[in-house]
Amino acid sequence: MEAETAAIENYMSENRLFEPSEAFKRQALVLDNAMYDRAQVDYLEFWKNQANELITWFEPFSEVCQWELPFSRWFLGGKLNVSYNCLDRHVEAGNGDRVAYYWEGEPGDVKTVTYSDLLGEVCRFANALKSLGVARGDRVAIYMPMIIELPVAMLACTRIGAAHSVVFGGFSSEALAGRINDAQAKVVITADGGFRRGAKIALKANVDVALDECPSVEKVVVARRTDTEVTMVDGRDIWWHDIMDRQSSSCDPEPMDSEDLLYLLYTSGTTAKPKGIMHTTGGYLTQVAFTHKYVFDLKADRDVYWCAADIGWVTGHSYILYGPLTNGATSVIYEGTPDFPDKDRWWDIIERYKVTILYTAPTAIRTFMKWGEKYPAGHDLSSLRLLGSVGEPINPEAWVWYFTHIGQERCPVVDTWWQTETGAIMISALPGVTKLKPGSATFALPGISVEVVDDNGAKIEKGGGYLTIVRPWPAMLRGIYGDPERYRETYWSRFDGRYFAGDGAKVDDDGYLWLLGRVDDVMNVSGHRISTTEVESALVDHPSVAEAAVVGANDPTTGQAIIGFVTLKAGQVQSTEKGEELRSHVAKVIGAIARPKTIIFTDELPKTRSGKIMRRLLADVANGRSLGDTTTLADPGVVEEIRVKALTSAGDD
Ligand code: PRX
Repeated sequence: MEAETAAIENYMSENRLFEPSEAFKRQALVLDNAMYDRAQVDYLEFWKNQANELITWFEPFSEVCQWELPFSRWFLGGKLNVSYNCLDRHVEAGNGDRVAYYWEGEPGDVKTVTYSDLLGEVCRFANALKSLGVARGDRVAIYMPMIIELPVAMLACTRIGAAHSVVFGGFSSEALAGRINDAQAKVVITADGGFRRGAKIALKANVDVALDECPSVEKVVVARRTDTEVTMVDGRDIWWHDIMDRQSSSCDPEPMDSEDLLYLLYTSGTTAKPKGIMHTTGGYLTQVAFTHKYVFDLKADRDVYWCAADIGWVTGHSYILYGPLTNGATSVIYEGTPDFPDKDRWWDIIERYKVTILYTAPTAIRTFMKWGEKYPAGHDLSSLRLLGSVGEPINPEAWVWYFTHIGQERCPVVDTWWQTETGAIMISALPGVTKLKPGSATFALPGISVEVVDDNGAKIEKGGGYLTIVRPWPAMLRGIYGDPERYRETYWSRFDGRYFAGDGAKVDDDGYLWLLGRVDDVMNVSGHRISTTEVESALVDHPSVAEAAVVGANDPTTGQAIIGFVTLKAGQVQSTEKGEELRSHVAKVIGAIARPKTIIFTDELPKTRSGKIMRRLLADVANGRSLGDTTTLADPGVVEEIRVKALTSAGDD
């Protein structure tokens, strides 16, 4: 351990640049700056070429981009189908026997799904959806575990031109209902349950509760996974296997307009109501295919690629489904947690499938660091040649640990910055070219233009500020579903003519970008965005709570941890049990991912003169002490600290 710490310190103090190795360069797709140069000269021409090279169009587009700030449209007039690009064309090219997914269930059951298999299943489910009355332009909600039926359902929607709205299986029935209603979904696709760390998690039961409040839903399709007993509502609910049995395995792909809605994905903002981020067809597919190919240096006929995210988040949409399938790649999908049955599950998977590319999040890497290197050391990881990171800033120590113990100093680590809203990777190294600095996402990709600006929106050449995007990009969100004004206000109002991502960033002496985390009221817990306001409104929804303020405190494993400061109503008693009740209440209202790590009771919350809660002060208080996985009772130290700090900063507004 001592030797390791010394090695990490060495790497860091040297401020060493990690150059691509000769061995990596010999096989890399991109070896020089030509692509950056071409994109620099004419970024529209650059994206036009990518769209033509990477995508099959039923009808060619006539115009690359229309830009009426803040609304962009890409590849106008082009017609295409996403499932055709992901499946049929690979089968037609003679690659039907190539494995699309090695799927592995948490209990250890496995499935190998070829491109031909997947096409057949997708066509059958597309026909099933049609038989349920789903038509082009409809919305379909999907609430499933990481089983193969999930990509099948998503691709089937794209085949017939329905937009999917995938809701992460960890969300509560209330969160699900809110999303279904906002999208006015007609059909819900779910499963009886899913496996998580050996336990069965109910899903259909949550759907049943949600649907009490969702009048738009006509039908529910239920896949069998855990053999959990479920209630099937007559005339509404259908088993996946029953409806699939009756379908033909051919279904013509619907030619969609480049700008037709492909999917909605809800994400937390600074208010309590999640935003339905809209992604459309041609631009999105072009950029996910481009980034997946070049950031991961993909050789589709040889690589075994594993993005270990959940499909319920944008990372899974773009880099488990649409990018890899468009490129004809072979991927791994793993259903469960990394510590089941033991803490070496991932390394076992890498060894068995000979995974060559691994894409995961810093929170997972830090968890593996905590568990110790003996788990990866017990497995043959020599198949790996490239590592990726996404979701939050990766601290240099985690970067170096990943590089050393997983990549065995052989594999470049690409840190990729992007968002649900950007749809695809925006800032990342290209691994055959870029000299890496541990902890830096390096540079904007070719065709992407980002700038760091100061408070007044003036560009900063060196130093810290706000990350903005200055030109439209193909996979950019097209808006917030049903709320164009909120779209304008949220992303385009802070700095004139610039998309503001909500992140702070720094440019160093060599022009490298360092992401500094969110600068708004959004927390990043284990790479997932959670709004402070959303958790606050879940807390005040509890009958005992008078007022609540939520802050993110630094956490060594999850990046940030959710800390709730709560004032109870008169007559309510502060107790550990009450704290537990409140934590569970948040989990019930939003989902387990939003359960506060700690509840701190205080008789009063610090406020500015205009009545705004001073969250920054509370964050200082939370960061200044070590907070366990428990409820802290009104600790006189905390109360006193809040009082003193509030007194000294009472003038701030
Ligand atoms: O704060 C940034 C952080 O995650 C936010 C986007 O979250 P979400 O839409 O859930 O998408 C996550 C997966 C793309 C960003 O605003 N973030 C994401 N990747 C990085 C990152 N922060 C620093 N470095 C990254 N590589």
